[in-house]
Amino acid sequence: MKHKIAILPGDGIGPEVMNEALKVLAKIEDKYDIEFEYEHALVGGAAWEKYKEHLPKETLDVCHRADAILFGSVGGPVSEQDNEKWRGVEVNSLLGLRKEFKLYANLRPAKLYPALAAASPLRADTAEKGFDILVVRELTGGIYFGDPKGRAGDGEEEYAFDTMVYAKKEVRRIAHIAFKAARTRDKKVTSIDKANVLTTMVFWREVVEEVAKEYPDVTYEPMYVDNAAQQLTMRPSQFDVMLCGNMFGDILSDEAAAITGSLGMLPSASLADGSFGMYEPGGGSAPDIAGKGIANPIAQIMSAAMMLKYSFGMTGAYDDIAEAVETVLNEGYRTGDITESGCKLVGTEEMGNMILSKL
Ligand code: IPM
Ligand code: MG
Repeated sequence: MKHKIAILPGDGIGPEVMNEALKVLAKIEDKYDIEFEYEHALVGGAAWEKYKEHLPKETLDVCHRADAILFGSVGGPVSEQDNEKWRGVEVNSLLGLRKEFKLYANLRPAKLYPALAAASPLRADTAEKGFDILVVRELTGGIYFGDPKGRAGDGEEEYAFDTMVYAKKEVRRIAHIAFKAARTRDKKVTSIDKANVLTTMVFWREVVEEVAKEYPDVTYEPMYVDNAAQQLTMRPSQFDVMLCGNMFGDILSDEAAAITGSLGMLPSASLADGSFGMYEPGGGSAPDIAGKGIANPIAQIMSAAMMLKYSFGMTGAYDDIAEAVETVLNEGYRTGDITESGCKLVGTEEMGNMILSKL
């Protein structure tokens, strides 16, 4: 069995951390007697250099030929944002890929590693309790893609607008993903909405409630988004799966990531129907540390692990990699972003090698 993977390292630290993920995948090929076939393609600023486009047709073709996309990161330095190489790069690259491949189900695990609890901004007694949250975010609908959006009028009468719209089938399919995920975890879904104000969110709640009835073994609870934002900081351990629309999921997944204290650690999966998916680290391209060999490769490595699990059904390989990462952290190895006194500071390659050595 041969799996075809499109490798899109992108900008900044993308290529460096991607290297470490590729090393881990090579090890998995050996261990599981399986073969991966890679095709590399340019995206983001790196693609702009060659094609004057952030997501050129050549790259889309590579992705269409593949069974999954392993994505690095895109974006340039803050000081160069006016440069057309960087203008709109994230929206063009990411939203473009999400739309093209109908990647409607975004899974963002936010787990507090006990070894890193001290890095969390949560109060110590809250962090001590730990948490393991999966944000399930609807990724191709809602206010991000709703029609119409635009600007009109002029002078003091000028205005701008976006449309929040959700179709029943869009809500149903993402709700099913959340409930199915909960079945493999702590069996609880908290559905995030703003049903006290927004019509789309009243509808969202109705549809999710209906789906919930099909999963009597899973606890279902609706929660307003403002309350959820607050609860995440006070009592994050109450959450298992958080089911969100596109925009609320964008915001709450950042918050959930931030309270783990280690943004550079979190992977994500964006899935279409069937087994196709795109996998990317939660953090950005970190241009300030690019090329220095100090970036944390764990999010990229765990994104590759998610690919093995969700696109290729290799749950055992996922567990192996997750365990290797945890072991290395427990032994005190840290890249600069997560280091603390008494720990062993390592660079990107060393961290990758340490994880390899545990596989
Ligand atoms: C994310 C990002 C993107 C989003 C941006 C860069 C378009 O914030 O993946 O969470 O809003 O979805
Ligand atoms: Mg975001």
